Amino acid sequence: MSKRQIYIYKSFERFWHWMQAILIFFLAFTGFEIHGTYSFFGYRDAVRYHNVATYMFIGLIIFTIFWHLTTGEYKQYLPTFKNIKAQLDYYIFGIFRNAPHPTKKTVLSKLNPLQKLTYFGLKILVIPLSVTSGLLYMFYRYPSRQGIEAINIQSLEFIAIFHTVAAILLVIFIVTHLYLITTGETVTSNLRAMLTGYEELEDAHKDEEKISDPKLTTQTFE
Ligand code: HEM
Repeated sequence: MSKRQIYIYKSFERFWHWMQAILIFFLAFTGFEIHGTYSFFGYRDAVRYHNVATYMFIGLIIFTIFWHLTTGEYKQYLPTFKNIKAQLDYYIFGIFRNAPHPTKKTVLSKLNPLQKLTYFGLKILVIPLSVTSGLLYMFYRYPSRQGIEAINIQSLEFIAIFHTVAAILLVIFIVTHLYLITTGETVTSNLRAMLTGYEELEDAHKDEEKISDPKLTTQTFE
């Protein structure tokens, strides 16, 4: 089957993806310094930088929620258990035997069932846990400015544990994600797609692509 370069990741999506990657990486880096894992910026600066990055992260999240809702792209993340076993089998066995990908990537369905489930979990559980515990931590930490005694938080330890667990889950996600992005058609095809927006996909996606966006530019590679 012939393949074509298809515009799969729109510019906002790519901006959001890379900003999120940078911010989460930076938040993890400064966060684990605050945690005491190592010393790089120094505790005071690490806290200051962590705080600045959190405001940027929250701003990005607000814009991204708006984008997902207005474009309908949130539908891409609704989890499905269909084909999930096939996808797991592929990552555990098939990938080492050069088996074909069990699910095909298209403009309307660019995430495989495992990605849908993982990203849904990140959006619904892990990131909200990180942001909520982080905000509670922030305002508990500086009671002279914005105390939250009204919601009667007894101990910072409880919040810190939740925040650290969310951070560890995010770090595990990043490490797994870095491995999985190398498992596309070629080692760099997924990375290139997220940088340029274009990915080489099978021609069967032609009709779907038209439904998605009639203005899309495509080139044919026989
Ligand atoms: C909006 C999101 C976030 C907010 C508001 C936030 C806020 C905070 C605050 C206020 C602290 C305590 C600083 C201090 O001791 O003065 C903290 C610590 C920390 N943050 Fe965040 N943070 C956020 C996101 C993240 C993310 C995404 C990560 C990692 C991926 C992260 C990792 C950490 C870690 C590991 C600590 C040290 C926890 C401890 O040892 O108690 N944070 N964060």
